[in-house]
Amino acid sequence: MTGRGRAIVGDMSEQSAVHGGPSLPQHRQLVTEIPGPKSRELLERRQRSVARGLSHVLPVFVERAGGGVIVDVDGNSLIDFSSGIAVTTVGNSADLVVDRVTEQVSQFTHTCFMVAPYSGYVEVCEQLNKLTPGDHDKRSALFNSGAEAVENAVKIARHATGRDAVVVFDHAYHGRTNLTMAMTAKNMPYKEGFGPFAGEVYRVPMAYPFRWPGGPEKCAAEALDVVTSLIHSQVGEENAAAVVIEPVQGEGGFIVPPDGFLPGLASFCRANGIVFIADEIQSGFCRTGDWFACDHENVVPDLVTTAKGIAGGLPLAGVTGRAEMMDAVHPGGLGGTYGGNPVACAAALGAIDTMIKEELPARARVIESIMLPRLQSLATRYPVIGDVRGRGAMLAIELVEPGTLEPAAAAAAAVARFCHLNGMITLTCGTFGNVLRFLPPLVIGQPLLEEGISLLEEAFSTL
Ligand SMILES: Cc1ncc(COP(=O)(O)O)c(C=O)c1O
Repeated sequence: MTGRGRAIVGDMSEQSAVHGGPSLPQHRQLVTEIPGPKSRELLERRQRSVARGLSHVLPVFVERAGGGVIVDVDGNSLIDFSSGIAVTTVGNSADLVVDRVTEQVSQFTHTCFMVAPYSGYVEVCEQLNKLTPGDHDKRSALFNSGAEAVENAVKIARHATGRDAVVVFDHAYHGRTNLTMAMTAKNMPYKEGFGPFAGEVYRVPMAYPFRWPGGPEKCAAEALDVVTSLIHSQVGEENAAAVVIEPVQGEGGFIVPPDGFLPGLASFCRANGIVFIADEIQSGFCRTGDWFACDHENVVPDLVTTAKGIAGGLPLAGVTGRAEMMDAVHPGGLGGTYGGNPVACAAALGAIDTMIKEELPARARVIESIMLPRLQSLATRYPVIGDVRGRGAMLAIELVEPGTLEPAAAAAAAVARFCHLNGMITLTCGTFGNVLRFLPPLVIGQPLLEEGISLLEEAFSTL
């Protein structure tokens, strides 16, 4: 049975009323204020039962989602420019994901790959080995979350090199576990009060063209110079196990390093026996218009971490890398009870199939070709927009006090709030909280995409 077929089982109106997925009407429609009465009621229950430390971008409770919309419990249909933070690349409840998951869940739900293996895990690893940059011999291992993948990539790099030090960047985000908190740059809210953090983590400046003191043209060469001399003077190349970088930074502000920086960094690592780890957790799986952001400059990392878009919303993450590095770890040295759970693997196979069949890297480039010119035109009209950047369907605008580099976080919050109250989910990010980022599902239809951008334009007119 296909995913779409699900909607016509039994009483048609009743069934389609409860299902999400791509057959949901693709429109923005508000039938109550935001949040509506049912969401407010759930919010009260949530406040009495869920820890305060978990916050929400938009306090509407979700009932269904699919394509480019999220429908809440009050019946409001919102445009989704967030994809659950770059996860539902193939859309929510995508047909092939639902089909594979449904079949798998009825066969078996868990054995633990370390107890009794199953083919879905192997198939996902085969796909990762094939799709990630480089045609060398690779191996993969699967985990539950992005942070866990990053932790394991560091474990593997340390084991393979016999070295301790890990080099990370300003504005980096790698997760919320103890090691990945140490690797993440921003204190509030990710690190405040949660120390002490793991040791042997060293931070170097990021090649951030908009804020580079010498200007964007000099950014690649100067940043490379600063980074390599800091590694030399403060770490020692011979002590560095790994350099870990997001090829397009995510939470830190959708920072795209200038051309030449990543290839230069990769060759410095190669020359010094340092494992080059690309954290493609947010930028990977078609998001930037290539399968992986590293593909843009033909950079071949030693290890790649993946999660988010890999499995259409189910929790799955991977580390993929050079066979000799991955296999340096002794049997039993990697793993975890749930890592590569069969249902999550089935979802990943459905999601990857969708990406191939629907040519989603090309779809991301189409989204860029529609969105970017309109964002650039917006920047000519509103001097509060200091920078427009990104790749594919990973785009952002950075807001500043006009004519300065002073972050305008309040303006970013006001624009986001206008969008939320008018039926569109959009996110902010950045070390200074002044970046609006856009991450639509790659399957979003053009009319809805255009409507979302128009709403954004309207939001700027209210500033
Ligand atoms: C680049 C990057 N690395 C790691 C993580 C952590 O992933 P998770 O939240 O699945 O642990 C994220 C999450 O936003 C991320 O964007």
